[in-house]
Amino acid sequence: MAFIEVKKSSKFYQMGDTVIAANKEISFEIEKGELVIILGSSGAGKSTLLNILGGMDTNDEGQVLIDGVDIAQLSSKELTNYRRDDVGFVFQFYNLVANLTAKENVELAAEIVKDAMDAEAILEQVGLGHRLHNFPAQLSGGEQQRVSIARAVAKRPKILLCDEPTGALDYQTGKQVLQILQNMARKQGTTVIIVTHNSSLAPIADRVIRLRDAQVYTVECNSQPQSISDIEY
Ligand SMILES: Nc1ncnc2c1ncn2[C@@H]1O[C@H](COP(=O)(O)OP(=O)(O)O)[C@@H](O)[C@H]1O
Ligand SMILES: [Mg+2]
Repeated sequence: MAFIEVKKSSKFYQMGDTVIAANKEISFEIEKGELVIILGSSGAGKSTLLNILGGMDTNDEGQVLIDGVDIAQLSSKELTNYRRDDVGFVFQFYNLVANLTAKENVELAAEIVKDAMDAEAILEQVGLGHRLHNFPAQLSGGEQQRVSIARAVAKRPKILLCDEPTGALDYQTGKQVLQILQNMARKQGTTVIIVTHNSSLAPIADRVIRLRDAQVYTVECNSQPQSISDIEY
């Protein structure tokens, strides 16, 4: 059994008189420690899918098995535990707490779990050992995103979910952030799922899931993913 198995998962939104299918019978598998890219244009259903995988939203039909457990069937209490213990999130606009330093932002997230990583150590790992005591407004966009990655991984999540993590960053800074995410998969064995509309990122992933009109269009595996320094986008 694969680490993540999504089976015919559908999600519908009621908009006035009409029902919009944001995800239609989505099916795929992901192995532990993979770097996965979910690709699709705006409105394809990527964020909906990511939010369901992270337990921030629930599907209406189908199964979402994480490590053998169908999270679509969990109670809200169990779903809270799943979000807290197993999942790290990275968002396009970082969502750091403005009046806490880099280190305090990471500590805040680490506090809610047992056995969290040391905040200073993880910030050093993302190249911010010299920025521990700076507030978000004193950091560049790329630095803020690296703090948000540190915050997400400090909990030692099994799954790291990233929604357009390089969307607000310039090219070189985006590459640094992708390199950190690829390292999390390669070196820590974290399963990393990145949502993007940018198809030029596809070659760096172990697996690429393309969404189109709320459905899975293709799933491809790269046996030899490219290194981030070699891609151009
Ligand atoms: N909370 C919501 N209420 C109503 N419609 C929604 C909601 N969330 C998403 N949708 C709709 O579902 C579709 C997929 O959205 P989304 O998953 O955000 O796509 P993407 O992230 O690929 O741009 C879109 O048509 C969007 O308008
Ligand atoms: Mg989106």
